[in-house]
Amino acid sequence: MSVKEKWAVITGASSGIGTELAKLYSTRGFDIVLVARRKERLEELAAKLKCQTRIIAADLSDREQCKAVFGEVEDLNVQLLVNCAGFGALGQFEQIDPDRQADMIAVNCTALTILTQMFLKDFKYRDSGAILNVASSAGLMPGGPGMAVYYATKAFVVSLTNGIFEELRSAGSHVKISALCPGPVDTEFNDVAGSDFGMKGITPQYCAKCAARGLDHGERIIIPEEAFSAARIAAKVVPERMSMKIVGLNQSSKLGGLL
Ligand SMILES: NC(=O)c1ccc[n+]([C@@H]2O[C@H](COP(=O)([O-])OP(=O)(O)OC[C@H]3O[C@@H](n4cnc5c(N)ncnc54)[C@H](OP(=O)(O)O)[C@@H]3O)[C@@H](O)[C@H]2O)c1
Repeated sequence: MSVKEKWAVITGASSGIGTELAKLYSTRGFDIVLVARRKERLEELAAKLKCQTRIIAADLSDREQCKAVFGEVEDLNVQLLVNCAGFGALGQFEQIDPDRQADMIAVNCTALTILTQMFLKDFKYRDSGAILNVASSAGLMPGGPGMAVYYATKAFVVSLTNGIFEELRSAGSHVKISALCPGPVDTEFNDVAGSDFGMKGITPQYCAKCAARGLDHGERIIIPEEAFSAARIAAKVVPERMSMKIVGLNQSSKLGGLL
């Protein structure tokens, strides 16, 4: 391993925000480890990037495969971990396939926790490195009727990141950690979730740019859109029941008014 090389490990790199973060960090002098299930997508992306790449095809709903990701990059000088893999599912809580909900918790929360812990140990030892956890504006809300598990997983990511941020800050560590909390972003998310934002999202390119800038600046919570920053402040003053009613009404229109 050359000490001049610095690597970024990016999960969810086969699509959307993860793909754009891989492209962006490749232009910032990083070599990139691309992680997702769809190997052919990762190979296509790797062919386009002007840097060294390593491809890891892994299903992150499986704990052993998460741990194996760490094992497969132990020889590299990893300076950045981006936990971007994730998905949602629209529907009333009891009607969504329980295996799908469990997989969502596994990918959005468990995999992110395992990878954060494994890489953070190294980063803290070296007192350098950064972790970007992709949460969502959903994680800043008190709850999400119509996507209850998804919102809960993202609230977990925000809370976990806040806790680690404070541990690092009080230890005087130079390691950075941020939670990215975008509103709608135009990716394959809706196709997978069976949802529809009902409003125009930002581009994944813009989202990636804001994420990298926020991480550079040591922001604990990164919100790419001004409108959603305002919504975050509003969420603090609007009663929780009213916030959830607004979220519920939005999801309800997609579910044919079932909520
Ligand atoms: N789009 C939005 O509006 C929005 C807003 C806020 C937050 N987010 C968050 O942003 C992140 C990226 O989503 P996106 O919008 O870019 O959606 P996307 O285009 O659907 O990308 C999702 C990525 O997650 C990977 N993934 C899903 N399940 C996986 C599994 N079991 N194992 C490994 N990788 C898995 C997918 O790869 P494979 O299918 O190849 O495995 C894909 O690369 C997610 O965490 C999402 O919750 C999205």
